[in-house]
Amino acid sequence: MPTETPCFEATHLTRVFGHGRKRKIAVDGATFTIGEREIVSIVGESGCGKTVLAKMLLRLETPSSGELRFRGQPIDAARDPRDHWRVVQAVFQDPYGAFNQFFTIRSQLKDAFRLFPVPPSTQDQDELVDRALLAVNIRPPDIEGKYPFELSGGQMQRMLLARIFILRPQVLIADEPTSMVDACSRAGILEYLLKLKQELSMTIVFVTHDIGLAYYISDRIFILHEGKIVESGTPDAVTQHPTSPVTRQLLADIPSMHRAWIQRTPHT
Ligand SMILES: Nc1ncnc2c1ncn2[C@@H]1O[C@H](COP(=O)(O)OP(=O)(O)O)[C@@H](O)[C@H]1O
Ligand SMILES: [Mg+2]
Repeated sequence: MPTETPCFEATHLTRVFGHGRKRKIAVDGATFTIGEREIVSIVGESGCGKTVLAKMLLRLETPSSGELRFRGQPIDAARDPRDHWRVVQAVFQDPYGAFNQFFTIRSQLKDAFRLFPVPPSTQDQDELVDRALLAVNIRPPDIEGKYPFELSGGQMQRMLLARIFILRPQVLIADEPTSMVDACSRAGILEYLLKLKQELSMTIVFVTHDIGLAYYISDRIFILHEGKIVESGTPDAVTQHPTSPVTRQLLADIPSMHRAWIQRTPHT
C-alpha cells in the first residue's frame, strides 16, 4: 500500500536571526514529519524556538536553510500565501494581537468569511457565528456589541477558537492557546481541540511549554531544546521512558503531570 504524503515534512529546517555576536539560531536543523490528521505537540521551555517553528509552518517566517514541504510541495512554492492560510490556520498565544481593538468581536468573527471562496448570506453568517460561539461555551448575547478590550484573556482565546470553528481549516497550528485561561477553561479548550480533531478530522500542531497538556491530547510529542528536536515519540514513550535530560526536567516541572504519570505507572 502506498504511504500517504505527510502534511508537513521538514529536513534540517533552520532559522537564524542576526549576525556576528548577535547571531541566534532559533530553530536548528529540525527534521520531522507530521502526518495528516495527526496531533503533534511541540514542547519545550520558553525561548527554545517553538513559536519560530510554528511560524515557519504557517509561512509567516522563512527558513534560513533546510527544507519544509507541505503536502509534498515546498512550502515557499510560488503560491499566493493566502492559499496556504485557507488550509492552515493559527491560534496564537496573544489573542488580543489577533483582533483589532476598534471593531466589535462579532464583526471580526464575520471577517473570517472573507477567506471563503463563496461567502454565505448575511443571515447564514450570523447563524454560523452563533453556532461557533456556542461551541466554545460563549452565549452569543454575552459578546453582543462588545470590543476585544471588554473581554477577558480566556474569553478572547475562546474567540480565536470560535474563529477556527467558522473557518474549519484542515490544519490548525495552536501556539500556547491555553496560556491565558484558568485550569477549568483550559480543560474545556483541550476537549474542544480534541472535538475539532474528531469532527473535522483536522491536523493539529499544538505548541506548549506544558508536557502535561501535551500528554493528554497528542498522538506524538516533539521535545524542543535550543532549537533542536532532542526527543520525539508517543506520549507514553516520552513520559514513561524519557531519554533526554530536557524531557526529565520538563516532567519534573509539572506536578499535575507527575500525578497522572505516577497513577499510570504500576507500583512495584
Ligand atoms: N524576529 C526575531 N529576531 C531575533 N530573534 C528572534 C526573533 N524571533 C525569535 N527570536 C529568538 O529566537 C529564539 C526562539 O524564540 P521563540 O520561537 O519565540 O521561543 P518560544 O519557544 O518561547 O516560542 C529566542 O531566543 C528569541 O529571542
Ligand atoms: Mg512562543
